[in-house]
Amino acid sequence: MNIVDSPRIIKIPETTSTSSYLREYLLEHPLPEGSVVMADFQTAGRGQLGNSWESDAGQNLLFSTFISPGVVPANRQFIISRIAALSVREALSRYVEDITIKWPNDIYWKEKKICGMLIENDLTGASIYRSILGIGINVNQEVFRSDAPNPVSLKQITGITYDIEEILHQFLQRFYGYYLDLLQGKEEKISHTYMERLFRRSGYHPFREDGRLFEACIYAIEPTGHLILEEKSGKRTRYAFKEVSFVL
Ligand code: BTN
Repeated sequence: MNIVDSPRIIKIPETTSTSSYLREYLLEHPLPEGSVVMADFQTAGRGQLGNSWESDAGQNLLFSTFISPGVVPANRQFIISRIAALSVREALSRYVEDITIKWPNDIYWKEKKICGMLIENDLTGASIYRSILGIGINVNQEVFRSDAPNPVSLKQITGITYDIEEILHQFLQRFYGYYLDLLQGKEEKISHTYMERLFRRSGYHPFREDGRLFEACIYAIEPTGHLILEEKSGKRTRYAFKEVSFVL
């Protein structure tokens, strides 16, 4: 990480999407790695697989940050998801218990989704030259109206209204720490901690693959991010994101 210039925090009232804003901003203005764009409201918040991201104005933490790791080969890019997910999990665990990482990088409280992230990696040759991480944490919103299956906010859990920026700083402190670990080659440590923090880490649980419903346990997660499930018969299958889903 560039430790000469401190990362900047750019706050804006409204944009289409903080990730799109950050990408365009970087075309004109170089920023130190780890800088953040946060917005009170997004008119076109983007979720995974082309979905939209619901958030009432001023109620939630909506931000994007970026890193330029250089050292991460494209086929190991999942390490970036791991450090982002671990950082959110630890930040939220200061406020409530039972926060886990649902593979690949949703953050859950119990059986409900409290945070989603969209990671866009820009490649040069076989390495990542820049990764833009867009993160939405449900903080103070009391009602969700979209058809997202199981959203929850910190306030719905505890009844308390939270300082949104404080949560951002809790995240950043951990994220910069994990990013230094990544740059220092501590991939093993990161991957191990990620495994320990997974949703439904132990035991057999129901999954769905196309129409097939089956029970399996999480056997491993590869550096590429593929999930390996093991069924009671001992059969192991490797899945990319969206080839299999947890049955909630
Ligand atoms: C998901 O579908 O789970 C990912 C949601 C990511 C939402 C965040 S909000 C801040 C950033 N800007 C966006 O447009 N999307 C991400």
